[in-house]
Amino acid sequence: MIEIKEKFSIKKYNTFGFDVTCSYFSTFSTVEELKELIIIHKNNNYPLMVLGGGSNILFTTDYKGLIIQSIIKGVEVISETDQYVDVRVGSGENWDEFVEYCVQHDWSGIENLSLIPGFVGTCPIQNIGAYGVEVKNVINKVETLEIDTLKKHEFTNPECKFGYRDSIFKRDLKSKHIITHVHFRLNKKHEFVLNYGNLKDELQKYDSISLKAIRQAVIDIRNSKLPKPEEMGNAGSFFKNPEISLETFEYVKKSYSDIPFYPQGENRVKIPAGWLIEQSGWKGRSIGNAGVHNKQALVLVNLGNATGNEVLNLAKEIQNSVNQKFGIQLEMEVNVV
Ligand code: EPU
Repeated sequence: MIEIKEKFSIKKYNTFGFDVTCSYFSTFSTVEELKELIIIHKNNNYPLMVLGGGSNILFTTDYKGLIIQSIIKGVEVISETDQYVDVRVGSGENWDEFVEYCVQHDWSGIENLSLIPGFVGTCPIQNIGAYGVEVKNVINKVETLEIDTLKKHEFTNPECKFGYRDSIFKRDLKSKHIITHVHFRLNKKHEFVLNYGNLKDELQKYDSISLKAIRQAVIDIRNSKLPKPEEMGNAGSFFKNPEISLETFEYVKKSYSDIPFYPQGENRVKIPAGWLIEQSGWKGRSIGNAGVHNKQALVLVNLGNATGNEVLNLAKEIQNSVNQKFGIQLEMEVNVV
């Protein structure tokens, strides 16, 4: 049974904690309920937005339309061999609870993605990633409902066109399909990914490497650097790490010999945006109620009753500073509404 709430506060539904409302709000627990909601949206002709965990979104104003959220649950084993297990997971499952479930079952593949806020159904959209792993590595396919036709579709991994914090669901299919289930292939034979700098260091504290140890190490690193949204509103990394040409990199390196970088093929390098922001003098600074986190400059925070526009304004100031100092344009990772 769907229930539509009117003039609904979404303060608790966005991790920045902005005090905004939407005209209508509803959850759906099945694909049939989702169809019903889409029909209501079409009959009434107001805008529609699907919200996951609200962990990658910045509202600058009240939303004049219908916001819907998946509460489709379930982790279903589809097939299994000695090597791997294929599972189909409802889009409304909490991401980190799913990671914990896999670790408990001794299935590897996503332990490095522990503690990322959000839902299973939104993880493919921006191809979440951390500590050397991206979720695209373990996604078999994505099930959706097409808004126009109300037909179910399946997208194989290559059809999802995954990239760094990117997929077809952010581009060609944006606002056209709603994700209902995600299929993952997890390994029973463990292949740990331990090459990411501070994860390797953190794991030295453990006698042996296991999925549980990796999960705990990632949780400890994240807790030491990233503010908890319940305590200080934020949306994780606010910007993407920019990819620049080797030429620009060599030029910047002349003045900043300690610039950290990750080579991307032969002619491009990725630079940590957090470093660029810190070098531009923004770490720990604030404008009004919007601040730059003092332990990780890539994270913008709501210091009190900030509005989305205050945070957006801070973001623009940062973009200008970084551009003036380094000639590098930072691109937002967070979606602005
Ligand atoms: N750095 C600074 N100052 C800062 C922050 C970072 O100098 O204030 C430099 C340091 O040299 C550090 C390097 O940047 O070694 C990388 O920092 P970190 O390991 O914290 O990772 P990141 O590049 O800032 C990315 C992801 C995070 C992910 C971590 C770990 C993006 C946009 N962000 O951050 O993802 O957790 O790597 O893999 O790619 C997210 O997307 O919301 C997110 C938190």
